[in-house]
Amino acid sequence: MAALRTVDDPELHKDLVTLNMVKNVVIEGSTVGVTVELTTPACPLRGKIESDVRAALMQVPGVAHIELQITAQVRSMFGGKPGKEPIPGIRNTIAVASGKGGVGKSTVAVNIAASLMLEGARVGLLDADIYGPSIPIMLGTNEAPVPTADNRLNPIHAHNMTLMSVGFINRQDDKPIIWRGPMVAGLLTQFLRQVAWGELDYLVIDLPPGTGDAQLTLTQALPLSGSVIVTQPAQVALSDAQKGINMFKQLDVPILGIIENMSYYPNPATGEKVYIFGKGGGQRAATRYGVPLLGEIPLDPEMSESGDAGVPLVIKNAASPLSVAFRDVSRQMAARLSVESYNNAIPLGVPIILDPNGGQGGPGNDPAQGHRPLRLG
Ligand SMILES: Nc1ncnc2c1ncn2[C@@H]1O[C@H](COP(=O)(O)OP(=O)(O)O)[C@@H](O)[C@H]1O
Ligand SMILES: [Mg+2]
Repeated sequence: MAALRTVDDPELHKDLVTLNMVKNVVIEGSTVGVTVELTTPACPLRGKIESDVRAALMQVPGVAHIELQITAQVRSMFGGKPGKEPIPGIRNTIAVASGKGGVGKSTVAVNIAASLMLEGARVGLLDADIYGPSIPIMLGTNEAPVPTADNRLNPIHAHNMTLMSVGFINRQDDKPIIWRGPMVAGLLTQFLRQVAWGELDYLVIDLPPGTGDAQLTLTQALPLSGSVIVTQPAQVALSDAQKGINMFKQLDVPILGIIENMSYYPNPATGEKVYIFGKGGGQRAATRYGVPLLGEIPLDPEMSESGDAGVPLVIKNAASPLSVAFRDVSRQMAARLSVESYNNAIPLGVPIILDPNGGQGGPGNDPAQGHRPLRLG
């Protein structure tokens, strides 16, 4: 334990013992068995923590062999003004917002959700974009939700994720509904509270576009753990990002960071990044407002094809530049959420065991069995 006190979590800047991340130390002869419990299966610095732990333990005289098991336990956190009840079973809600439509907000929400699922987390996706629900098409399902015995709605399951969308409710054969602000806020609250989501590590919420008063009204009704703002280099990125940042600051919702979508085009021949719309707008906005740039997502012609195909690109083609970027952005985001939630963390339930041989990942694993194996990315 003294040796492990010398190992810091690179993001929380405290040692693993103080952070209560060290479990089950067993010493047999010259072999030390230890379990390290990370705060997210999508930990970007997992490799570093592993090698630091091994190095520290090997310093101890008499230790010749280390059996290291890595698990993850996502902690629960809800920001925002007091008085908002967390949703039972949901550990974190992440709002994806943008200054205007068409910047790739839904693409980001869907691929972040799928990336976290691929890391082994239990993930839900709520399509709250009343004006342009796109999750039914992007996830390739248009099932009608069925009520539960206790008068809630059963969510839809697809691609190892749990889904709900206004698109599932506002069916094409129905008359279009004219949504007004208060109705929208009411609907979103219902979507959070009246859907039988089950146990989720992360619920990703695709918000309606815009960060004005209407969005403020409806966002303040939601218990949110963190927010992400999607921008593009071509738009007036700075002022748009600023409006989003101001909105979440007013709501006391932690801003996990900015994601710049359609940042560059990777030259297929050389891999060189071509910054068609100019370089560094997202980074400048991030620096100016003191929030992280979680990453730059490239333009990918396969994207629109994949959107129509009903399979998120990170699942369909893990090797595409866009998928690689989304996997990285999702880890950065999960790490930020862990840092934000550290002080308010509520540890719950059983940890996810990160399976070095590769498991199934996602919510298909039965938590009742005591563990959920993780597929390594
Ligand atoms: N990185 C990208 N590369 C190529 N096409 C993209 C990318 N991001 C989004 N798109 C495409 O841009 C369009 C708008 O994206 P969408 O996610 O629906 O935006 P929003 O939800 O903000 O309105 C879609 O056709 C989508 O397939
Ligand atoms: Mg959208």
